[in-house]
Amino acid sequence: LQGWSSQALRGQTMAVDYVTYQGIKFPPAYNSERSLCFAHKEFQVQDDDVFNVTYPKSGTVWMIEILSLIRSGGDPAWNRTVLNSTRVPWFTTRLGLESALSYPRPRLLTCHLPIHLFPTSFIGSRAKVVYTLRNPKDVLVSYFYFSKMCSSYEDPKSFEQFLGDFLSGDVPHGSWFDHVRGWMEMKGKENFFFITYEELQQDLRGSIQRLCQFLEQELDDGAINSVVENASFRAMKENKMCNSTLLPRDIMDQDKGTFLRKGICGDWKNHFTVAQSEAFDRIYQDRMAGLPEAFPWEAP
Ligand code: A3P
Repeated sequence: LQGWSSQALRGQTMAVDYVTYQGIKFPPAYNSERSLCFAHKEFQVQDDDVFNVTYPKSGTVWMIEILSLIRSGGDPAWNRTVLNSTRVPWFTTRLGLESALSYPRPRLLTCHLPIHLFPTSFIGSRAKVVYTLRNPKDVLVSYFYFSKMCSSYEDPKSFEQFLGDFLSGDVPHGSWFDHVRGWMEMKGKENFFFITYEELQQDLRGSIQRLCQFLEQELDDGAINSVVENASFRAMKENKMCNSTLLPRDIMDQDKGTFLRKGICGDWKNHFTVAQSEAFDRIYQDRMAGLPEAFPWEAP
């Protein structure tokens, strides 16, 4: 096998050896069972921590930009000079944990954890959680393209196959339905803030103002304008500190896609057949039954 790059080998086999923690699979490049277990059982949450929590492809990196711009009072210098993963570390990963542990308080932290794997030391703390969710059909489309370009995700054989895996929860980070249902149980608690990708799209300024209130961080109009401007899709695409282009090719292959891909609502309509959409809706209705919420993507 000498002379073969690991990428070539991966290209041949297409198999990804996921890390599994408590029945959920995680991408192997950054996670280990140990790092996930540490995050879950040993990580010490501080009362002034702010957590950015999402299911993948729901606007994680967008919220990272917003939270760090708010933290710096609208000044874009931090966002433009420091990598997003340093500004808001992924504390569940091996490298992210190091950043999180050396991060001066108050910390901004991020993860895709389902609620039952979230740090147990959060219970009883006054730390805050910002949970962003998105139309699962758009999540699925975004996840499909992301999996193609990211080596620690299995390259989907087809859209149809990925749709089936997504609906059955057999994708990295587990089931969207379980993730959202689990976190939604916290709705109404004072240290939780729920927002949708669709609300961010529709009214970014108003969303940022609500976030500032939640974070108890007052920003004047000029500072809010700067957050809006610097967290726009266009500004983020140009910013190497958040557009993922600095990631090594064997982690994310920019020839196979773009991380900040389309940044729109409703791209699922360009991908789902009518039959696929109807099958999705049936499972959605079944899995989301009993939730009092009316999400922006649900028909009235
Ligand atoms: P698309 O693939 O649909 O374009 P995550 O950060 O959770 O992985 O989510 C990535 C998705 O959020 C991508 O969706 C990306 O384009 C979108 N996104 C990131 N920043 C955005 C912004 N400022 N405005 C709109 N969409 C954004």
